[in-house]
Amino acid sequence: MIALYLLVLLVVVLIVLAYVIFILDIFLWKHDIDTSDDVLKIVISEIKETDYKNRNFIDLGCSKGSFCLRLKKQLPDLNIVGVDDNRLRILVAKLKNNFHKHKVTFVRKDIFNHDLRSANYIYTYLWPTILPWLEEKFNDELEQNTKVMCNETFLPNWEIKKQIKLFPKKKFSEYLFVYLKK
Ligand SMILES: C[S@@+](CC[C@H](N)C(=O)[O-])C[C@H]1O[C@@H](n2cnc3c(N)ncnc32)[C@H](O)[C@@H]1O
Repeated sequence: MIALYLLVLLVVVLIVLAYVIFILDIFLWKHDIDTSDDVLKIVISEIKETDYKNRNFIDLGCSKGSFCLRLKKQLPDLNIVGVDDNRLRILVAKLKNNFHKHKVTFVRKDIFNHDLRSANYIYTYLWPTILPWLEEKFNDELEQNTKVMCNETFLPNWEIKKQIKLFPKKKFSEYLFVYLKK
């Protein structure tokens, strides 16, 4: 009886500890908000406009991998790579990956050190200050016609192909900015 009580106590302590670590991680590190299912649907329809099978999608700043794994479940024929420089978040993403039938490749790396030349689709949900620097990297590395989808924040100099209102009912909705590399 005491052993069972101690086991339950241990599990509770571990769960509380995990929450504390995740909350500290959010405050001490870069923001960690997942893309919603509504936005996921929009991204999927953008990908489905093209011949996506066996092509390469990169989520720059994938956090704990929720977006990549939900996308992979819907489009198992798409090769998906998630990149994030946060050890804890990538560890959680890799752990979650084990429980999924269709696998995503998760890489712990600064997105600025990740080679983008094989990408056919790029997705970002990042702070606006990062986008001008990323734009330079995209100019250097992306192949022509790579589809770039930026949630909420945009590339300062690229021509926007589509600007999709993400929450049409909201007065101040965010947008998904869609680009094609020239
Ligand atoms: C808001 S989350 C986006 C999560 C996921 N892409 C989604 O849409 O659900 C942004 C993530 O980008 C990561 N990030 C920001 N700057 C980065 C950098 N320079 N290199 C790697 N990851 C970065 C953060 O660690 C964070 O986990």
